[in-house]
Amino acid sequence: MTSKIFLFTILLAVLVKLGVAYSSEPENLNTKKYDSNTGFVIDNGYKITTTHCTACHSAQIIIQQGQTRSGWLELIKWMQEEQDLWEIPKEQLELILNYLATNYGEDRPNFKKEK
Ligand code: HEC
Repeated sequence: MTSKIFLFTILLAVLVKLGVAYSSEPENLNTKKYDSNTGFVIDNGYKITTTHCTACHSAQIIIQQGQTRSGWLELIKWMQEEQDLWEIPKEQLELILNYLATNYGEDRPNFKKEK
């Protein structure tokens, strides 16, 4: 049972990787796709999030966090105050917050837990 799930996961990972390689536009699909470089789920705003949020550390530090929208905003403010994160134009910040709150909310729908 467990090994079937394991094999299925591998197969899925391969398919997802292939899918990412052949699609350049982010789309809203039921079958999620993940960016093979960062691991970010491909959804509206993932490119701008990649630009601003993977310059200093890997995307994994973000993927493993689960925050509400205001939690993300607090974290970004903290990085701006303490970690030299630059000012992000309001429009771009909105896109980033929407992306993070949707895909990396408290239930962490895109963080694969090891079980
Ligand atoms: C200018 C560099 C820089 C950029 C750009 C940056 N961060 Fe960070 N971030 C840091 C540093 C440095 C740490 C680690 C601080 C530490 O070691 O405690 C960190 C830590 C984090 C953490 C972990 C916080 C924790 O609980 O320990 C998260 C989540 C995070 N960043 C998210 C983001 C997001 C989202 C963005 C894009 C808006 C971003 N970062 C962009 C510098 C940056």
